[in-house]
Amino acid sequence: MAQLWGGRFTKETDKLVYNFNASISFDQKFYRQDIRGSIAHVTMLAASGILTDSERDEIIDGLNGILADVETGKLLITDEYEDIHSFVEANLIDRIGDTGKKLHTGRSRNDQVALDMRLYVRDELDEVTELLISLIKVLHRLMKENTDTYMPGFTHLQKAQPVTFAHHIGAYMEMFKRDLDRISDIYERMNFCPLGAGALAGTTYPLDRELTASLLGFEGPTLNSMDSVSDRDYVIEMLSAFSTIMMHLSRFSEEIIIWNSNEYRFIELDDAYSTGSSIMPQKKNPDIAELVRGKTGRVYAALMSILTTMKGIPLAYNKDMQEDKELTFDAIDTVKGCLALFTGMIDTMKLNKAVMEKSAMNGFTNATDAADYLVNHGVPFRDAHGIVGQLVLYCIDNDKSLLDMTLDEYKAICPVFEEDIYKAISLEECVNKRNTIGAPGPEAIQKVIEINEEFLKNLS
Ligand code: ARG
Repeated sequence: MAQLWGGRFTKETDKLVYNFNASISFDQKFYRQDIRGSIAHVTMLAASGILTDSERDEIIDGLNGILADVETGKLLITDEYEDIHSFVEANLIDRIGDTGKKLHTGRSRNDQVALDMRLYVRDELDEVTELLISLIKVLHRLMKENTDTYMPGFTHLQKAQPVTFAHHIGAYMEMFKRDLDRISDIYERMNFCPLGAGALAGTTYPLDRELTASLLGFEGPTLNSMDSVSDRDYVIEMLSAFSTIMMHLSRFSEEIIIWNSNEYRFIELDDAYSTGSSIMPQKKNPDIAELVRGKTGRVYAALMSILTTMKGIPLAYNKDMQEDKELTFDAIDTVKGCLALFTGMIDTMKLNKAVMEKSAMNGFTNATDAADYLVNHGVPFRDAHGIVGQLVLYCIDNDKSLLDMTLDEYKAICPVFEEDIYKAISLEECVNKRNTIGAPGPEAIQKVIEINEEFLKNLS
């Protein structure tokens, strides 16, 4: 049991207490961030005249040695240490002796862990940003390739009006663009350095907090030492943004599962992204989409957990806050895994365009356009709605679609109809006439694709 704080105690910690209190099993995940923070800290201590340059160099060499040995597996992080901070400090002292004991000058584990968590979250936000961009690029390609791939649009999962596959995918494009925006907002708000806050009340050393902040790529130091050690808002914001990403992925997964079903057959998932059944030889299951949908709950759980943990904590640091890690780490890994797999899955799926188009042709998806035809010929919309309702009923009774009816049949219900009704309710017309911005018509979609093209260009 390697602890940093035995001085004022007369007894060994009870083993169960030690295990309950220790965090090494999970906070070892940020050994890189811990070492990076320590290197910045000693660099600042030397620049502020608190350590000599040679002490700084000795400590930095030691820390880099620890980093290299952990990376190569030569040095194992074991539960002999209470947490990652103790592991690094104890190993440093083992390596370089007494100079290592100066590392923790002007620092507490409270501001240290606050820094490590921020560095970790910041690094992970970068990774999630990259994964979102990869997904958005695939969506962009799918949109460009499918501006004339007709499919039914649904409300209540009932066929409503025809759209294009580009338009349907465009809806998810907007969601994931917002997700990207949310992450950059969070990044900006959290990018301040808590190191130098000490345990809660700063330190008496003349620390140059501006320097530490800039060495670690922060905008500047945080402004209140008590808030610095007890703020986990950025974790909550990240988990909230991740929950929204998962909600979007889950809805999309649900559609993939429906589209891939035997009944719909709008798409076919690639063999590499499907799984089989141990008993039913014919099966090809969309397990990846189901797992993404299923894992959404874990990420929501992490958000609920941290919100609950934080709600009753008086200022400043309390040990409850150690609970900010395990579920957060799990949520980060879950979101990254889901984004990567989902992107691969939709990048490789095949579209059955003919099936989609056929499906858009039936189910009276052109009924609104038939009513609009009447409105364009002077019939008030409410009357037109009633007339087309009668047409639909007639078609259902006679097992026809609106395009199958003869002009005489149309005229028997309403004399306003003329030969041009057929063109007006063709699939192409129904989609192509909808060209207000945001609608599925080709001109409207083209504009959005250009905006997205620009959006992607500005990211790099
Ligand atoms: N393992 C602790 C955490 O994750 C580090 C901070 C310890 N500070 C303390 N006062 N016990 O929060």
